[in-house]
Formats: sequence, C-alpha cells, structure tokens
Amino acid sequence: MYGVEVLVNEHDQIMRMANVMRRASLHVLNGGDLVVQDFDHMVDFVRNYADQHHHRKEEKLLFDYMVKELGNIGINLVKHGMLVEHDLGRLYMAELDQALRAYENDADNSDAKLDIITNTTAYTYLIKRHIAKENEVVFTFGEKNLKEESKAYIDKQTKIIEEEAQEIGVQVKYMGILEELEKKYLV
Ligand SMILES: [Fe+2]
Ligand SMILES: [Fe+2]
Repeated sequence: MYGVEVLVNEHDQIMRMANVMRRASLHVLNGGDLVVQDFDHMVDFVRNYADQHHHRKEEKLLFDYMVKELGNIGINLVKHGMLVEHDLGRLYMAELDQALRAYENDADNSDAKLDIITNTTAYTYLIKRHIAKENEVVFTFGEKNLKEESKAYIDKQTKIIEEEAQEIGVQVKYMGILEELEKKYLV
C-alpha cells in the first residue's frame, strides 16, 4: 500500500533525527557547546516534518479510516495509543522550546540546560517506541483490515499531499537539516 510505504519511509528519516538528538544531548552532557540554533533545527524538524507532514497523514487518512472501520480495536490502537503519543511528543517539543528560550536569555541557567537534555532525550525514547508500534502492529493491522476502496483513497490522497509538499520544498528542506546535523553530531 503506497500510503503506508510513504509513512514507513518517513519513519526512517525521523529515526535518523532521533539518533542525532541523542548524540547532540550526549555532546552537551559531556561538556560540549550547547548550540541553540542546532536544537531549534531539531524542534523545527520534529514540528514541521515529523508532526505536520508525517503525523498529519496518519491522523487525517490511515488512522481516521481505522477508527471508522475497525471497531474497538481500531479505536483503542489509534485514539488511546497513537494519538496520545503524538500529543506527548508535542508537549516535549513545547517544553524543549521553552527551555531553549530560557537558556538563550541566560547561558548560566543550568536548569534550562537540564530541561533541554531531558526533553530532547525523552522525545527520542517516545518516538522510537511509537514508530516500532506503528511499523509492527498498527500499520499492518490497518493494511490487512481496511476496505479496499478506503486504502485506494488513502493512497491517492497521500500522493497529492506528497506532491504539494514537494512543490513548496518540504522534503528537500528537512532532509537538508537532517544531513547537516548528522554531519555535525554523528562523528
Ligand atoms: Fe504516529
Ligand atoms: Fe508515524
């Protein structure tokens, strides 16, 4: 199913960013420079690529149909599982953003530094578990049980969203940010 292939492929990119975020946190923990702009780029990637571009497709297409067509199992997997975790990720990013602004105002603020490392790392744990569940359980269940016409609709809409995003350069922009941060932190 094309719609699921696109999501699984995006998971690979999001996992790469999660690895960068862990390495950058370790760098700071070991006494390296805390470069606010790099962490701002991580927040930007998570908010606009992982959340806006990727989660939007899950929420508006695949998960929406799973809730409508797959009874209580669909509702539980999506509403009490995946959507709760999407929200938790947004909370970590809000806390991280706030801590970055506090650190920017006062580089001696070690509470802010701790909150930066904590929220960055917490997000990586959350998103790795979340992606594993989606890849191994949620997507497989949806793909196996949704109506053929729903799957065709999801595929078609996914294609439209991907093309529209390409036109405004979303994928190119965020792959650029990812590669730049990998070069810096994965050495
Ligand atoms: Fe998700
Ligand atoms: Fe996902």
